[in-house]
Amino acid sequence: MAENWGRAFMAQNISEVLYDEDVIAARVAELGERISRDYADSKEGIILLCVLKGACIFFSDLARAITVHFQMDFLGISSYGDGTRSSGQVKFTKDLDCNIDGRHVIIAEDIMDSGLTLSHLTRVLSARNPASIRICCLLDKPERRECEITPDYCGFVVPNKFVVGYGLDYAGEYRNLPYVGVLKPEVYMDALAQSFSHK
Ligand code: IMP
Ligand code: MG
Repeated sequence: MAENWGRAFMAQNISEVLYDEDVIAARVAELGERISRDYADSKEGIILLCVLKGACIFFSDLARAITVHFQMDFLGISSYGDGTRSSGQVKFTKDLDCNIDGRHVIIAEDIMDSGLTLSHLTRVLSARNPASIRICCLLDKPERRECEITPDYCGFVVPNKFVVGYGLDYAGEYRNLPYVGVLKPEVYMDALAQSFSHK
C-alpha cells in the first residue's frame, strides 16, 4: 500500500478518541470565559503566550474565546525528541519578541506531563518581572508529574496514555487530527524496535 498520511490512515493508529471536536470547542469556550472574567478589571489586559508547536491549535481557538484586552506572542521550547518520554532537557528554540515586564502573562500549553517544561519556563519568565504568570493547558496528566506544579486553567485531566491530535504530535505527525485520541502503543513500540535494529 502506498504511504498515505491522510486522516483515515492516521485514524487506524488511534485506539480511542478521548475528546471530539465538539467537546473540545465547548471546553475551550469555557476556559476563554473564565480567563475573560478573571482579567475583566485589568486595564492593560493579558499577554497570551503560545508554546510552539503543540499548543498552536489550542492557542488559536482559546485566543478567540478571550474577550479582554489582549496581545499574543510565541515561544519555542523543546523537551521531547521523537519519542514519547521527556528527555529532561529543556531548550529554547525561539524566544519571545515582546517585553513582559509588568504584564499579566498566561502561558498556553498543549499538555502538562512531567511538568518539567513548564516549571523551567515559568522560572525563566519570572526573572523578567511580569505582574503575574498563569498556566493554561488543554490537557493535564497529573500521574506523571515529577515536580510541584499545577495548571491554573486546565481543559481536561487525561489518563497516563500517549495522546495525539489537536496540535499534539508523535514524531511531528498527527497534529492535524481535529480530536484528541490515544495513540496505539504498537506505533511507537514498532518505531523503537526499528531504531534498535538499525544500530
Ligand atoms: P513535560 O515537560 O513532561 O511536562 O512535557 C510537556 C511536553 O511534552 C508537552 O508540551 C508535549 O509537547 C509533550 N508531551 C507530553 N505528553 C504527551 C502526549 O501524551 N502526547 C504528545 N505530547 C506529549
Ligand atoms: Mg509542547
